[in-house]
Parts: sequence; C-alpha cells; structure tokens
Amino acid sequence: MFDSPPTLYRPFLTGRYTVSAGLYRLGEQGVPWVGPEAGAVVEAHTFALDREYPHFVESKAAAHRRALHEYTGEAALTPELREAALSFVARTLAEGSGGVLTWDGRTFTNHALGWVADLDPRWGAVENLRHFDAPLAPLIADLTPVNALDFLGLNAPEDLALVARRPEGGDWVVALHVLSPQHWDPREKLGRDFVAVHEPVAGSGPMNATAPRLVDAVVNRGPFVRFAWGVAMSDRLDHHPAAPRSADRAPQTRFDPDRAFLRVERQTLTGFPEAQGALFTIRPYVYPLREAVADPAHARALAAALRTMTPEQVAYKGLVPLLPGLLAWLDEVT
Ligand code: HEM
Repeated sequence: MFDSPPTLYRPFLTGRYTVSAGLYRLGEQGVPWVGPEAGAVVEAHTFALDREYPHFVESKAAAHRRALHEYTGEAALTPELREAALSFVARTLAEGSGGVLTWDGRTFTNHALGWVADLDPRWGAVENLRHFDAPLAPLIADLTPVNALDFLGLNAPEDLALVARRPEGGDWVVALHVLSPQHWDPREKLGRDFVAVHEPVAGSGPMNATAPRLVDAVVNRGPFVRFAWGVAMSDRLDHHPAAPRSADRAPQTRFDPDRAFLRVERQTLTGFPEAQGALFTIRPYVYPLREAVADPAHARALAAALRTMTPEQVAYKGLVPLLPGLLAWLDEVT
C-alpha cells in the first residue's frame, strides 16, 4: 500500500522563527531543509500518501465519531468553487496513489479503506456509498460521510480549507474539513477573512498588512507550498480545543526529551481563478524530537530559532512551561 516513510522537514534549520508568508512555488522552487541531508528539493505534490496513512485515517475517524460538526462546515460556498476544488482533490489524490485510489469523474474508490461512492463535486452529494473488504476497512466501517468534502477529507491525510474572494476585494474561509487542528477551533475561523483568522498569531501584524496581496497570489498565481513548525509534548494529530486533552499544553506538562516531538505542518495552496477561490491543505508531520535534532548542528539551529521568538510568540506556541528545559537540553546535546 503506502509504505514510504514520511518525508523529514526541518524548517527551523534557518535558525529563525518567522511569522511570514514563506511561499515556495510548487514544482518550481526548491524547498530547503528537506530529507535527512537537509537539502533543497523541488516538490510538486499536494497530497502525501505514506506509511502514516492509517494513523491519519484512525485519528480523523475518531474526530468524525466524536463531533464532526466541530471540525467542518461551509459558509456560502458557491457550486463553482466546490466543483473546482473537489474535482481537484479527487483527481490529485488518485493520481498520486499508485492505483490505490481511483476517480473517473463520478466514482471515487479507495482500495485501502474499502469504500466506494459516487460524488457530485458541484453540489457536494455522496451517493451509493458501499463498503467492501480491504486492509484498512475496519478503520471506517461504521462511518457515513455527510457530503463529498467529508468523504474526500476522510480519504486524505491532509486537512482541507477553501478560501473565497470577491473580485471587488474581501475574502473569507468558505469551507473547512480540519480534523487535525493544532490547538485551534475550525468553528472560530469559518466565514472569517485572512486577517481575522490570523489575528491570534503573535507577530502576525506585518503579514496581515499584506493580506490582500497574499490572497490574490494564492488565487491567481501559484500553486505554493509553505511550512509551519513547533515543539509539542504529544504526537496526537487532533488538538481541537474541545477534544479530550493530551499532555501537549496541559498545565502540568514540563519538557522531557523522550516525550517531545517536532510538529511540522506542510501546507499547499492551489488557486482556482475562474471560481474565485483557493484550496489550502494542511498535512502535519510529527517526529520524535531526538530524531529531528540527532545532528548537533540541527539541535543548535533549533535552539537558535527558539531564541528568536518574542515572549508573545513563546506564549502563542504554548512553550512557556517548556522553553527553559527545552533550551537547556538542546544546549547540552550540542
Ligand atoms: C497565503 C496563505 C497563508 C499564509 C501565508 C499563512 C500564514 C500563517 C502563519 C505564518 C501562521 C502562524 C504559524 C505559527 O504557528 O507559527 C498561521 C497560522 C494559522 N493559519 Fe494561516 N496562512 C495562510 C493561509 C491560511 C488559510 C487559508 C487558513 C484557513 C483556515 C489559515 C489558517 C490558519 C490558522 C487557523 C492558524 C492558527 C491561528 C490560531 O492559532 O488561531 N491560514 N498562518
């Protein structure tokens, strides 16, 4: 099935934490710090199907059962944008799957999860859902997707967000299927514009000041890939504020190198100019911290990057109780 190891991304190797666009052109611009050798790699893919696939499906299925309505929604999504984005998702997922996933413009089949359905990308319907025997079928045997976005989201490791804009200016988050949020609540973002969505991010002022230009680039130029990163004390994928708490950001949690993880989010942006919108995908990668900084030079870069955070950014990233122990450990291993 999908047996390649997850790619190793270490965006902190720049030695700086920045709140900025950091957009690389997919298929054109080399992304630095990719892989064990931390070299520049030109990436073209939107979806990454690797051996973490069952883990994503398991986590998404648990979120679905717990409270799907806390993770997904639509806010005046036009049929044009739904059709453009969902057709792109179905086609691109299938293309990168080596035949495990197939899409013929009407029927989407997943031979790993053992389900097949007819989808109407324009109006969002899922019809004729059937389950069949397959290696991962038990993970989703009890699930019934509520619409085509939900069905496709459950088939992808990535979370999905759609952004819409008006030609005369203004944008909003028009659809979300985010089942692995990193300590944010999709319900607070749906229907909001770029600036409102990013208001809680410490130091987002300069980036937000360029919001109209960014949204325009995302819709009309691109596609792009960008990365976000942080240190977490849990490898859980779903950190929805309403989900049962993990050790990450629990008040009593302190830094422990054996329980710490580097969480990197690989995010892609694909525009649909005709439909006045864009698809934003979010794929979390969670690596044991010891492995991510096994080379002392990498540990040094992480320490340097953490030291460039403002106190507000340390707080925003949930690092206040962790930072002293984390920095002491990084200094020791270098
Ligand atoms: C050009 C496109 C985008 C850029 C450059 C961008 C940039 C950023 C940056 C720099 C951060 C802070 C990351 C950190 O934790 O260090 C962030 C956070 C975030 N972004 Fe974006 N972003 C973009 C698009 C989007 C879209 C389309 C959504 C739609 C949901 C989104 C949702 C979020 C959320 C929810 C957070 C966390 C906010 C919170 O903590 O409440 N972003 N983004």
